[in-house]
Amino acid sequence: MKHLYHRGSNPDAPVLLLLHGTGGTERDLLPLAQMISPSSSVLSVRGNVLENGMPRFFRRLAEGIFDIEDLVFRTKELSEFLDNAAEEYGFDRNNVVAVGYSNGANIAGSLLFHYKDALKGAILHHPMVPLRGLELPDMTGLPVFIGAGDNDPICAPGETRELEQLLSGAGALVETHWERFGHQLTGTEAAAAAEWFKKTF
Ligand code: MLT
Repeated sequence: MKHLYHRGSNPDAPVLLLLHGTGGTERDLLPLAQMISPSSSVLSVRGNVLENGMPRFFRRLAEGIFDIEDLVFRTKELSEFLDNAAEEYGFDRNNVVAVGYSNGANIAGSLLFHYKDALKGAILHHPMVPLRGLELPDMTGLPVFIGAGDNDPICAPGETRELEQLLSGAGALVETHWERFGHQLTGTEAAAAAEWFKKTF
């Protein structure tokens, strides 16, 4: 997968896996990594799917209606990419915290839904429920930050709560930060995520 990797000054700090929103690139979320953990190594990945020229992490049939077969395939592809990147760059595969926005948050959620110990933690900005009807792996103690909008037209509050319940039901420790700026990732939401990271890791 197209990506960039920056080695951080602290080899023990979690590696930040950055996952952009629809139409983004591997450069979009780099400022977030600086806010969250400036000494961390950063692995930032570009989604392999193009929708009218816009990179995404998996196909969708319409807004909010995911191509589940492709989602499962792309989730496996990303999981294998992470295993290989850990070997290639020499970081601890068990020390990866995802930071995803929108479509990137959805593939991060799908990693958690499909693979036990896929991530050490996750910051999910405006995620949806990636898919339903799966038996989720044990996520006991897994820290997850959700940034949500109580007027988000893409991810309604009810869906945020459903995601909270699914993750918590599997044992994850979920903290949700609510704002009123629709689907936007605001500076205050990013600051709340950085604060959460500092107290959690
Ligand atoms: C998605 O397709 O993953 C979500 O609808 C968010 C988006 O990327 O627009």
